[in-house]
Amino acid sequence: MRNVEFHNREKETKDIRAILDRRPTLITFIYGPINSGKTELINHVTSELSDEYVVFYINLRTKFLASYDDFIESLFEMEMESNGVIKKGKETLAELVSSITKVAGIPINKEFLDYVFKDNKPKNAFSYILKLFEEVRATGKQPVLIIDELQKIGDVNVNGSLIYELFNFFIDLTKEAHLAHVFVATSDSLFMERVYSEAMLEGRCRYLRVDDFDEATTTAFLEVHGFTDDEKSVAWEYCGGKPICLVELVNTEEDRRGKAEEMLKIRKGQIEEIVYSLEARDTEMFDVVMGLLSEFIGKEKVGYKYISDGIKFLVGKNIIFADSMNKELRAQSKLNLLAVREVIANA
Ligand SMILES: Nc1ncnc2c1ncn2[C@@H]1O[C@H](COP(=O)(O)OP(=O)(O)OP(=O)(O)O)[C@@H](O)[C@H]1O
Ligand SMILES: [Mg+2]
Repeated sequence: MRNVEFHNREKETKDIRAILDRRPTLITFIYGPINSGKTELINHVTSELSDEYVVFYINLRTKFLASYDDFIESLFEMEMESNGVIKKGKETLAELVSSITKVAGIPINKEFLDYVFKDNKPKNAFSYILKLFEEVRATGKQPVLIIDELQKIGDVNVNGSLIYELFNFFIDLTKEAHLAHVFVATSDSLFMERVYSEAMLEGRCRYLRVDDFDEATTTAFLEVHGFTDDEKSVAWEYCGGKPICLVELVNTEEDRRGKAEEMLKIRKGQIEEIVYSLEARDTEMFDVVMGLLSEFIGKEKVGYKYISDGIKFLVGKNIIFADSMNKELRAQSKLNLLAVREVIANA
């Protein structure tokens, strides 16, 4: 397999750097279709930051989150002894801060953790993080908190919804205390729709879209990997600017057209499975869904007024991406668009 280097993203990198240069005031939501390169971009930008910034990156993707305790465990990092027991030390906050290595969870020791777990109160966790960030600032550095895949805590309840407590905390960190930069990334458009229409966030956050590559960026990316003109046009035709799909073609040494056709065939089969099993369960919903998909026959973008059940279904199956900011529906990728068109044509 080839080593695919990070490619371009000049504009998005510049936007994030400009935010980091200023005093923290707003929460930044990084959103976009699935596999567009959000996580990759965040990792790239943070890996290039100077020591002036202390980054706390938490990716909730692989975490199991059903309760408050799960959430706390996902946020904090504890030093372990080689036998797997939590290291007991008499570290102070200052000592914890000085031991921070780049891009990890939030460091904590046994004593503070007991406090944070006490009473199942998110406030305890947040007040600990606040103190830790103040300690970071006291050393002349700027804390940056990044939570990837935040939608995973969407339904966790702790005497009320955890997500609201968390939003309040983020507002406190940014707009009120100007203490830390807060970035939240998600590819869940239903979650973004909730964020976008959430009154408590009104005027307190900004949105940064990380989309698939545009055509010029895609071409440049493929040229780096020695694609012929024919291979470039096949790649654009089937994958559009979806990085993960392009990387798959880069890693295919022979018959890239065959590989692209195979990827399309697989996606078409999956979408058929999704819609026809729906028909077997719920013909009314099936008609709605097929109606929605038919709109993509001649168009790539379709406007919408609100997230209907049909849209919710297609978004939930990762076929459609709903861009709440622009009130637009698009296929999650070029491959999805082509597959949808074939499914409709064969219906
Ligand atoms: N700028 C880039 N240069 C090279 N490859 C990239 C780039 N961005 C993304 N990729 C490739 O695409 C894959 C998917 O990217 P990434 O996981 O960052 O997407 P994402 O938007 O975070 O996905 P998800 O929607 O699942 O959160 C990466 O593993 C990488 O192989
Ligand atoms: Mg990601």
